[in-house]
Amino acid sequence: MRIATLFAALAAYAVSGAAQAQQIGNAVEGLAYARAHCGECHGVERSKDDFSPNSDAPDFSVVANTPGMTERALVVWLQTSHPTMPNLIIPPEARDNVVADIMSLKAPKP
Ligand code: HEC
Repeated sequence: MRIATLFAALAAYAVSGAAQAQQIGNAVEGLAYARAHCGECHGVERSKDDFSPNSDAPDFSVVANTPGMTERALVVWLQTSHPTMPNLIIPPEARDNVVADIMSLKAPKP
């Protein structure tokens, strides 16, 4: 009985730890947001044939695969205004979702 309780507690701990290690945000919602708000300039789709409509705006898969790119760096970057678009304010929850979406474009390590 006691061992079973301990085991259940450990399992719960492991699950919560795994949840914490997960990426921030929701990539599916982030993609929907990106299509609506970023796709005008950035390539946001997974397809390799998708290029940024605005050639100055990097494709999100290029952003994701920039060496050293992290979720944290993207969050920080998106907290500052776009140099070219000072009025682009992304609500924090949408920002986390978009960051999750962008990071999901990172090519898997070979
Ligand atoms: C009106 C066009 C436009 C829209 C809309 C736009 N961007 Fe951008 N974005 C740019 C341009 C141009 C650059 C590159 C020039 C620069 O760094 O100022 C850029 C740069 C970025 C970068 C930095 C990339 C890097 O590697 O330096 C990120 C991240 C980014 N945009 C995210 C977003 C997100 C997320 C959205 C939607 C919420 C968005 N952008 C909407 C034009 C746009």
